[in-house]
Amino acid sequence: MTDGELHERAQAAAARAYAPYSNFSVGAALLDRDGRVWEGVNVENAAYPLGICAERAAIGRAVSEAGRRPGDFEAIAITASPCGGCRQWLVEFRLERVVYTDNHGRIVTHAPDELLPDTFVL
Ligand code: THU
Repeated sequence: MTDGELHERAQAAAARAYAPYSNFSVGAALLDRDGRVWEGVNVENAAYPLGICAERAAIGRAVSEAGRRPGDFEAIAITASPCGGCRQWLVEFRLERVVYTDNHGRIVTHAPDELLPDTFVL
């Protein structure tokens, strides 16, 4: 699967977002090393901070359903620029490439370290 195809999967997934408060739908498509694609969408809540981002929904699925771990993923495509918290997750799970629609509408690719330099480690 090409990065372009992965981004198309993220765009298709965004239609399933539950975002009644922001009206900002986000889709993510996470490619694991077995070739499997895990899709995720943002799921909001009336108690706003409890909402979950599309990237974390996708990673949560892969961990929950298949026991995936850091290093098991090749790339993730996102229909928006990843938020700060999600960048921390992308570093933790050691994604090779993060493909996303930037704030100018361009599809760009970065390594997680470029998106969050000098990352917190425990
Ligand atoms: N959102 C994501 O799903 N991923 C990001 O990385 C950026 C923000 C969602 C959260 C919220 O439901 C909506 O976009 C507006 O912030």
